[in-house]
Amino acid sequence: MNELLQRGSEHFASHFGGTPDGLWSAPGRVNLIGEHTDYNDGFAFPIAIDKRTTVAARARADRLLRVASSSFPGVVEVCLDDLSPDALTGWAAYPLGVAWAMSQAAGRAGGSAAAGSPMAGVDLALTSDVPAGAGLSSSAAVECAVALALDDLWGLGLDRQELARLGQLAENKVVGAPTGIMDQSASLLGEPDHGILLDCQSLQTQSVPLGFAHARAGLLVIDTRTSHSHADGGYASRRRSCEDGARSMGVGSLRALGPDDLPRAAALLDDQTFRRVRHIVTENQRVLDTVAALRTSGPAVIGTFLNESHVSMRDDFEISTPELDLAVSSAQEAGAVGARMTGGGFGGAAIALVRDDDAGRVAEEIAVSFARAGYTAPHIFPVTASEGARRER
Ligand code: GLA
Repeated sequence: MNELLQRGSEHFASHFGGTPDGLWSAPGRVNLIGEHTDYNDGFAFPIAIDKRTTVAARARADRLLRVASSSFPGVVEVCLDDLSPDALTGWAAYPLGVAWAMSQAAGRAGGSAAAGSPMAGVDLALTSDVPAGAGLSSSAAVECAVALALDDLWGLGLDRQELARLGQLAENKVVGAPTGIMDQSASLLGEPDHGILLDCQSLQTQSVPLGFAHARAGLLVIDTRTSHSHADGGYASRRRSCEDGARSMGVGSLRALGPDDLPRAAALLDDQTFRRVRHIVTENQRVLDTVAALRTSGPAVIGTFLNESHVSMRDDFEISTPELDLAVSSAQEAGAVGARMTGGGFGGAAIALVRDDDAGRVAEEIAVSFARAGYTAPHIFPVTASEGARRER
């Protein structure tokens, strides 16, 4: 981590000169279970991972926002007074979209920062080791690091739930991806060795011990290096099907339905909408079952929920890909406790829960299966549950 902080300070100096007022960081996430449930007011159970985005930031005397990223050339600048969702495009839409969302929130709270002074411009330099496009929420990591930095520099005193909501708002309104609140919640609320049980209806959260170290087990990420983009049609069309399903069933969201409602849903809905609904209803149950099993018996018994979740995403929600299916099936065949694709789908990463002693072999066998299938070699690496966004310095 120190290396990332060092790089962050150097990157800041190379673009803006001098030293930043502070450094903030926020992690990517993997979702252990509970996919596409967040925008259905359901349950999800993500963890914050040990890969982070760092933002080095310094307040300015004027109202200019300037942002640089070590992943892209140049500096993007905009005046605070000109921030608007339509004016922001490309990579800078993520950090500046958060600035827009936060300036809206500050406006609602009285038009200025808590201290009574108008919000100042800020120079922001971003560096990250969260792989982009892998379904590990590199975008939420950027949003949450920037949100925390601006909250401090502007003295807004917003709580983490509110910061998560503003990150989501930036993604929905500025980036144009109709995503839920899971990624930002995980990035802001994560804890070492814990998963975060999110109730996306009440917005209540609980930290649940994973017990991985005690069970001598851990998570492997299998990044298939096939791309996913949530602004594209697949994610939005799944969301629409869920909303259609809820409307036809006469409920405000699919959270209101349980397994007992499925026969009525089967009778009422077309086959495709029914399968979308069945995924959400059964996935909510699997999240609760996973958390209950972790609490009573530990990680060794949660594999079946992970495996069933993947089947549901593959067959009912239809968001998997041949590469993700192969990552999952070869992990299972190589002796993983359980495996599933993670995140929005249509590419990106799968996760496998593996015993420590099996991790090397499972990774090797997945790589061999990919080579045999003629797929691009996957990037396979372990992740641990880590602390959420924080001020580093
Ligand atoms: C993406 C979105 C999340 C969530 C997942 C699927 O990561 O950003 O809000 O909907 O997909 O569970």
